[in-house]
Amino acid sequence: MKFSAVISATIGFLAFTQATPPAGKYTMDKCVKCASIECMVANMSLQDKITQKIVLDFRKWRLGSCDVAAEKDFTVMNTEVADILAKYKFGDVILFAENVPSVNQTTILLNEFQKANAKTNKIPLMFSIDQEGGIVTRLGTGTMWPGNMAMGATRNSDYSYKVGAGIAKELKALGIQVNYGPDSDVNINPQNPVIGVRSFGSNTQLVSEFAVKYSQGIRSQGIISTAKHFPGHGDTSTDSHFGLPLVNKTLEEIKKVELVPFQALIDSGIDMIMTAHIQYPALDSTTLVNKYGNETAIVPATLSRKILTDLLRKEMGFDGIIATDAMNMDALVALFDLTESLSNTFKAGADFAVMPLIPRCVEDYKLLDSMIERIKKDVETGAYPLEELNDSVARILRAKKKYGILNTRTDDIDAKVSNAIAVVNNAENKALEKKVSEDSMTVIKNDPKYGIPFVVKPTDKIVAIMPNTGNEQQTASVAQAIKDYGVDVGVSTYNYTNTVYDPAVHDAWVDSATHIIIGSLVTKNTPAIDGGDIFVEDKTPIQWAYTFPQNVVKRAAEKKIPLVVLSLRNPYDAANFETAPAVIVTYGFKGYANGIYRQPNIPAAVGVALGKAKPTGKLPVDIYSIFNDTQILYPYGHGLSI
Ligand SMILES: *[C@@H]1O[C@H](CO)[C@@H](O)[C@H](O)[C@H]1NC(C)=O
Ligand SMILES: *[C@@H]1O[C@H](CO)[C@@H](O)[C@H](O)[C@H]1NC(C)=O
Ligand SMILES: *[C@@H]1O[C@H](CO)[C@@H](O)[C@H](O)[C@H]1NC(C)=O
Ligand SMILES: *[C@@H]1O[C@H](CO)[C@@H](O)[C@H](O)[C@H]1NC(C)=O
Ligand SMILES: *[C@@H]1O[C@H](CO)[C@@H](O)[C@H](O)[C@H]1NC(C)=O
Ligand SMILES: *[C@@H]1O[C@H](CO)[C@@H](O)[C@H](O)[C@H]1NC(C)=O
Ligand SMILES: *[C@@H]1O[C@H](CO)[C@@H](O)[C@H](O)[C@H]1NC(C)=O
Repeated sequence: MKFSAVISATIGFLAFTQATPPAGKYTMDKCVKCASIECMVANMSLQDKITQKIVLDFRKWRLGSCDVAAEKDFTVMNTEVADILAKYKFGDVILFAENVPSVNQTTILLNEFQKANAKTNKIPLMFSIDQEGGIVTRLGTGTMWPGNMAMGATRNSDYSYKVGAGIAKELKALGIQVNYGPDSDVNINPQNPVIGVRSFGSNTQLVSEFAVKYSQGIRSQGIISTAKHFPGHGDTSTDSHFGLPLVNKTLEEIKKVELVPFQALIDSGIDMIMTAHIQYPALDSTTLVNKYGNETAIVPATLSRKILTDLLRKEMGFDGIIATDAMNMDALVALFDLTESLSNTFKAGADFAVMPLIPRCVEDYKLLDSMIERIKKDVETGAYPLEELNDSVARILRAKKKYGILNTRTDDIDAKVSNAIAVVNNAENKALEKKVSEDSMTVIKNDPKYGIPFVVKPTDKIVAIMPNTGNEQQTASVAQAIKDYGVDVGVSTYNYTNTVYDPAVHDAWVDSATHIIIGSLVTKNTPAIDGGDIFVEDKTPIQWAYTFPQNVVKRAAEKKIPLVVLSLRNPYDAANFETAPAVIVTYGFKGYANGIYRQPNIPAAVGVALGKAKPTGKLPVDIYSIFNDTQILYPYGHGLSI
């Protein structure tokens, strides 16, 4: 409520302050050494202004060929990419897991990027990354963190500040200056397949408070924080990676929920906001013709001037950088031509177009050349006013100045590497990661007789049965955690990926146990049980994902074997286990591989199951029955102590 009041209050105020900038703002007249942002902009060519606004990824590269067989993860600079960087003078490069597997290599790679850019460009590159913490964490050896919803479950927003600062320290040491976080979506739709645990929860005030603290933690280390996905991706049941979601709510509803965290972040001085590829007809019902010319579609926020300029800039008073979500996502690509989308997002008011194309070899850059020509034409015809382009580039350069990016050095690589090795995944961050995950574990039901804590002796056998989807090695995480807690007990592990429960085979898994830890990873409960579909990563319905663990629960009950379900991802999944003796919501599913836990959540849950830690987490969302989607089974705030 507080922040919606701020929104309406700013409308009148901004009518006076958003006047046209004085003529001649970007001229060389008074420039001596191009020290001011205005002079820097004035001395840039039209082409360089456009490419300053383009953010590309180099996650894979096909060296010397455009053949897909030549494609490799891009971890070391090569002359083709170096020449491209010198030629185009980009504003920002987005990094993915493929680019950042290890500390030394990442630090050197980023330094090489800067050196290649510096051959022709006085403006250093910015690097950005989705290091949200939790399930979206790119650094191969960085601290992984339990994730936003886990933090929401602790109800301790100081953790959010400290985790933000912990993430930022690691990025800074590597030479990365922008984190695409916090996710500031209010996850009020249990069917949301893509945000879920990336959100702090379903309560607007909780999300606002934790998102502001996280961003302040990030900024406390001199790193740019990005609120996403504006105007909100929390009330969708479509993943914009695969389709274009529509949020059909009234303006009043949107102002009461979705916009509140964003307004709080703007008021707290956030420097960057990322857009969503989502239709919001109450905010803009303009239609665009699709790329085939045979249908129209409501303009998605990323391409909407009403949403980016009129609402975000003018009404909500945001003067920082607007970056798009990845423009190659299906939400846009299935409907619109890439070049049209780039043109439209700039006209709408975006400063950074993130991944408007996905070049993988030198030849692919022909498309970029034609895209740049199109934007030049937009400027020449006035469709994209030069004044707006100037202001947009100035906004980017201002952030580069504020965060010290304009002073980037490339001659100190040895010092950078040794510093990065000391900082990334440091002991302080690891201890914080562990503490936050322990405090987040949420026990939503427990029958002391057949539930937790397990009391085990060396002759007992804990059987861990995990979905291990996406090569996640969750069984390994359970086994390692039992070892790390020093518990002397037998352990057996089984995977059930893509497996329908077959009593003739799988009853034996259950029967061999004295205690069972069964993992469930269901992203989206659709009207289930009676033939509904369950979705894990994409559009593929995979019913085994809930029927398998349900059968394990049933068999264990028949055999009176103590059991705990770990609901590994979105907490709504826990509703599938009303008959289980104990359920722990973990908010994170990643396993253990190559000697590291890829997330701290599973070991924290194992600690609770073994009685090594007291659960204190409280649900940051309501969990609805799978039989009746208005019946709340476990309300917001629920969480048992044992
Ligand atoms: C403007 O840029 C050119 C090169 O692009 C450079 O030679 C010149 O010194 C710059 N002007 C100022 C005032 O810095
Ligand atoms: C934009 O910047 C150029 C210099 O790069 C300057 O000549 C032009 O007047 C500026 N235009 C506006 C409208 O700000
Ligand atoms: C970092 O990597 C470079 C290149 O592979 C190597 O020469 C150097 O010894 C490494 N430094 C450290 C501290 O590992
Ligand atoms: C939005 O909801 C209203 C009222 O239920 C309905 O009339 C309208 O068709 C919906 N719009 C879209 C684009 O689905
Ligand atoms: C529009 O054209 C595309 C491509 O030819 C086709 O796949 C699609 O079905 C058409 N849609 C309509 C409504 O005709
Ligand atoms: C279990 O799944 C993991 C990850 O997919 C895989 O590496 C491992 O080999 C599997 N184990 C068994 C016993 O199938
Ligand atoms: C679903 O739950 C709501 C809220 O508890 C209840 O009012 C309603 O009667 C239930 N519907 C059915 C079909 O059971």
